[in-house]
Amino acid sequence: MPSLLIVILISYFAKSSLADPRATEIALICTNETATVPQRQVFVSNFLAAMDTLTPLINLQGYAAVVNGTGNTTVYAYGECMKDLDQTDCNLCFAQCKTQILKCLPFQLATRGGQNFFDGCYLRYDAYDFFDESLSAQDRTVCADQDFQGNTTVFKDNAIELVKNLSVQALKNDGFFVGFVTTGNVTVYGLAQCWELVNSSACQSCLENAVSKIESCAPKREGRVLNAGCYLQYSPYKFYNNSGLVGGGNEGLSARSNLATILAVTSSVVALVLIIIAAIFFVKMKLVKKRRERKQLGALVATVNKSKLNFSYDTLEKATNYFHDSNKLGQGGSGSVYKGILPDGKVVAIKRLFFNTTQWVDHFFNEVNLISNIHHKNLVKLLGCSITGPESLLVYEYVANQNLHCYISAGNNVQPLRWDVRYKIILGTAEGLTYLHEESKLRIIHRDIKLSNIVLDEDFTPKIADFGLARLFPEDKTHISTAIAGTLGYMAPEYIVHGKLTEKADIYSFGVVVIEVVSGKKCNSFRQASYSILQMVWNLNGTGRLVEAVDPVLEGNFEDASRLLKIGLLCVQANAERRPAMSVVVKMLTQNHEIPQPTRPPFLNTSGVETTSPSIPRQNYYSQPDSYTQSSGTSMTQSWIEPR
Ligand SMILES: *[C@@H]1O[C@H](CO)[C@@H](O)[C@H](O)[C@H]1NC(C)=O
Ligand SMILES: *[C@@H]1O[C@H](CO)[C@@H](O)[C@H](O)[C@H]1NC(C)=O
Ligand SMILES: *[C@@H]1O[C@H](CO)[C@@H](O)[C@H](O)[C@H]1NC(C)=O
Ligand SMILES: *[C@@H]1O[C@H](CO)[C@@H](O)[C@H](O)[C@H]1NC(C)=O
Ligand SMILES: *[C@@H]1O[C@H](CO)[C@@H](O)[C@H](O)[C@H]1NC(C)=O
Ligand SMILES: *[C@@H]1O[C@H](CO)[C@@H](O)[C@H](O)[C@H]1NC(C)=O
Ligand SMILES: *[C@@H]1O[C@H](CO)[C@@H](O)[C@H](O)[C@H]1NC(C)=O
Ligand SMILES: *[C@@H]1O[C@H](CO)[C@@H](O)[C@H](O)[C@H]1NC(C)=O
Repeated sequence: MPSLLIVILISYFAKSSLADPRATEIALICTNETATVPQRQVFVSNFLAAMDTLTPLINLQGYAAVVNGTGNTTVYAYGECMKDLDQTDCNLCFAQCKTQILKCLPFQLATRGGQNFFDGCYLRYDAYDFFDESLSAQDRTVCADQDFQGNTTVFKDNAIELVKNLSVQALKNDGFFVGFVTTGNVTVYGLAQCWELVNSSACQSCLENAVSKIESCAPKREGRVLNAGCYLQYSPYKFYNNSGLVGGGNEGLSARSNLATILAVTSSVVALVLIIIAAIFFVKMKLVKKRRERKQLGALVATVNKSKLNFSYDTLEKATNYFHDSNKLGQGGSGSVYKGILPDGKVVAIKRLFFNTTQWVDHFFNEVNLISNIHHKNLVKLLGCSITGPESLLVYEYVANQNLHCYISAGNNVQPLRWDVRYKIILGTAEGLTYLHEESKLRIIHRDIKLSNIVLDEDFTPKIADFGLARLFPEDKTHISTAIAGTLGYMAPEYIVHGKLTEKADIYSFGVVVIEVVSGKKCNSFRQASYSILQMVWNLNGTGRLVEAVDPVLEGNFEDASRLLKIGLLCVQANAERRPAMSVVVKMLTQNHEIPQPTRPPFLNTSGVETTSPSIPRQNYYSQPDSYTQSSGTSMTQSWIEPR
């Protein structure tokens, strides 16, 4: 047997033009905790802050550990790429991994930690310091379903020998090694890596554990061990990239090392011949693959180039003065927005998307195509995009007068908006939403209606920004979790609690906007008093004093304004079915359409208000969503009792 074992080293093959970030998810592991997580929103916002800090560090050094927050809401986060990935691929893999781990956060009621293993990278967060942990209760072994096609005995022996050697070699080489073992036509490739912060004794016990577990996979065609402190994989495919690595002799193993190791000349003539044959074979395969990939990407690039929507990355980069900070207009959940001046002098707004991978380029372009065909006076026009550069960019029409948020938040030195302007803004927003929900060919739910997503042009015509973007992220919960952190006050209860998304969620958010615009008060999302405007307006409505909620600067229009507040209350009813459709809202705004009595909004504080039906204590709605659903089914209007 040992004489049959001929091991060859194949390195430095022609650099392929299309790198592979191995952004494939192996396992997302969310840890359950039965106890209620204290101060959940704080934990979530610490988590997001940790991710923001982590990303540039990983882009810099391939791994990073970050701690954010204090006390029992502290978030520990750790990310690392496989060491054979180059920096670009690492960034791409991590960006994907990050979007997926968000699934552990918002809707799973008691999850507190999460780990996400990708083929090319790893990310973990938790509420305790796990940085030097090597083994944990969540560790997994993931074997392929099918056996290796071929001589399974040989494959199994090779796989076991390989992983043993890899784990030994990794310990001597900063915790990382890749390699393969070949017998006849059976080759097994493997990778072993310990995370940077795991010390060598912990790395050793982690890999030893991994080797013993992965043995149970063989002769399944692939095996992976996902431990808290290390990662081990074997496969019949050459999944790793050793072109940036240094070979450690003719054993078929490679390490990441600074030593300039010169490849030993193989003594055996047989081996030499084999190398040449294998080299020709692999080069040929590579060329075929490369040609195919080029053809595919070529077709897409051609479509994009032909379309009017295409902007070159260079043009947009120059238009924004290389994304200079002074051109930055704002920062949203999906990316930052810059003001840009195109070569023909046209002013545009350019959105730099935060989440960006080459994998959904195709899908992305189709969506942009669809959305750019949507035209309405109350929607910000999408002019085009750039998808072939290093990051995806969207180009929008530029709107002069900032967003509504700047006019409503207190303390700003802006002239308060007049009544007719406020009315125009509310009506225009309602018309824009009617178009998105009911009139356009696509049924679009915005998901993130809020003051800052309503921009105003020079004559204060409102335009809804960022619509349709949500469609671009069908798989992940990015928008949702960002929204949870940033715009909780605008989110419909059924959406927060059950993740149930319909037009009614937009209508709820619209209702909050109406109440804010008419009352001139901002609904502050994070504080305990987060629903206090809703509560105040609701209370005043119950006592027939709705006029008192109207912004006092609106002299003389209190009757009309309180009619609008009532429409706002209709839109924020806890019971989604009772909220009127947007087209009905437009009718209420423009015609003398009857306005029914609204029922209760969700999440009211019990202090100051007594109810006969069970109320929903705020801290409970995460842990017991069902109790909320039941209570919202009963008629709230009757059960409401005037505060003392
Ligand atoms: C392999 O790594 C090298 C350098 O690290 C890089 O240039 C190349 O694009 C990578 N190839 C693949 C297929 O990832
Ligand atoms: C976590 O909780 C969910 C829902 O209760 C359950 O389906 C899942 O199996 C649990 N996972 C673990 C690791 O306990
Ligand atoms: C957490 O992140 C926020 C926002 O990036 C930052 O202001 C704060 O200083 C960080 N806190 C800690 C403890 O690192
Ligand atoms: C978490 O910490 C906060 C303040 O640090 C405290 O008020 C709260 O009771 C703590 N919760 C738990 C469950 O320990
Ligand atoms: C290595 O880390 C482990 C914790 O995982 C710790 O118990 C051990 O003392 C460390 N060993 C050394 C030599 O630092
Ligand atoms: C697998 O290979 C070994 C060694 O070459 C040989 O002895 C054995 O018969 C083969 N098994 C099968 C099923 O081909
Ligand atoms: C490997 O070689 C054996 C005979 O040595 C042959 O039966 C088998 O089909 C080959 N497998 C592949 C995948 O080429
Ligand atoms: C793996 O290790 C064993 C024992 O140390 C050795 O005999 C064998 O040649 C090694 N294999 C490779 C592929 O390095």
